[in-house]
Amino acid sequence: MAKSDLPVRDSFTSKFGVIAAAAGSAVGLGNIWRFPYVVGENGGGAFLLVYLLFIVAIGMPVMLSEFAIGRKAQRNAIGSFKKLAPRTPWYFVGVIGVAAAFLILAFYSTVAGWTLEYIVKALTDSFAGKGEAEISGLFETFHTGTFRPLFWQLIFMGVTLWIVMAGIKNGIEKYTKILMPLLVVMIIVICIRSLTLPGSVEGVGYLFRPNFSALTTEGILAALGQAFFSLSLGMGTLITYGSYVSKKENLGSTVTQVTIADTLIAMLAGIAIFPAVFAFGIDPESGPGLVFVTLPNIFQEMAGGYFFALIFFILLGIAALTSSISILEVVVAYLKEELNLTRKKAAVFAAIVITMMGVLCTLSFGAMEDVTIFKTTFFDLMDFTASNVLLPLGGLLIVLFIGWYLGSSRTREEVSNENTLRVRYFPAYIFLIKFVAPIAIAIVFLYGLGFLKL
Ligand code: PHE
Repeated sequence: MAKSDLPVRDSFTSKFGVIAAAAGSAVGLGNIWRFPYVVGENGGGAFLLVYLLFIVAIGMPVMLSEFAIGRKAQRNAIGSFKKLAPRTPWYFVGVIGVAAAFLILAFYSTVAGWTLEYIVKALTDSFAGKGEAEISGLFETFHTGTFRPLFWQLIFMGVTLWIVMAGIKNGIEKYTKILMPLLVVMIIVICIRSLTLPGSVEGVGYLFRPNFSALTTEGILAALGQAFFSLSLGMGTLITYGSYVSKKENLGSTVTQVTIADTLIAMLAGIAIFPAVFAFGIDPESGPGLVFVTLPNIFQEMAGGYFFALIFFILLGIAALTSSISILEVVVAYLKEELNLTRKKAAVFAAIVITMMGVLCTLSFGAMEDVTIFKTTFFDLMDFTASNVLLPLGGLLIVLFIGWYLGSSRTREEVSNENTLRVRYFPAYIFLIKFVAPIAIAIVFLYGLGFLKL
């Protein structure tokens, strides 16, 4: 028996631990920072509708597939395919995932670093008494700089590394349980404030009123990319986490709970941000800076805004952290199990390489703004390649693997815990992953990338 077949795998200790870790991975900057600005860039309501459709018809089935693969194989993203499909090229799906993990954590740590700067700004009461222009100016000056954004990125990567080195059980499980609910409460409070601003109706309308003429084929691809990004899908994060889940857990209900939590928080973030966007005359298409210029405007108009700003940015930083560790873990589990590195060595090596790529992303807003590839900056290039290309491609291959390689009876055994659970959703799930998801992903992909024209 190979060493990794022995029952020594670190694992989650409870149902709630699994949910907290998986939801911790899913809920992050993707929901609060990325979702509102991607909605803004793609015209609002119609985009939201397509996004929700993708979450249910593609996201949930892919998530179940990832959990099933990981738990069945008890291995990392690449090793799982090697084990379930020996001597086939399927392991390449895991390779795509590990590559995506490098790219995503590189730009993710840039933005996560921004949240740390904003904790300090909140702490030193930097938003008080400032108007919209000054608050935008603060963000402009900060994020186009060199030293400060790099400093915070480094700190953030250091903390991520430190937690991942500690392993699965003894780290984040305990904290996410307390912190995630707190984040929800905070967002609800901010939503209420935002909804009571003058002109909030316009913002809510922008988010919920579908205007299909604003929806482009690139927008539909962006909705798919956002669905994958937000649910942490397509790169083996949930294969890796699935491998730490007990054989007694109900994977189907885990998927439902994680998806609901993730979607709810994205919607709340949208409801918090868009009314304020219109009330303060901010451009909804202002891109990656949207949360950082919108929310401080609300905070400085709120009673107790000082504390709300502080708590909000702390929680945003934590949400980012519970996601970033799940991204780093994909690489670490691979290096550890397939290349036999120690967890510590694997983590340090991965973190160093990712940080070096991350520096390029951070500087692409300032010193390296003019360095572009295919007319895009490093930041946008890594985000686009990972989110809109690698994640959907990984997702496509994952559903094809389950639907057409592993087959429905072996999959049924895994998701029904050897036929001890009722899985009434199973026929619908198989139908979605065999036909609907692959065709939909392929079409969106080819149109979105411009290989096909309507
Ligand atoms: N889902 C995370 C977020 O929304 C980001 C992430 C993407 C995490 C891919 C893991 C894998 O912030």
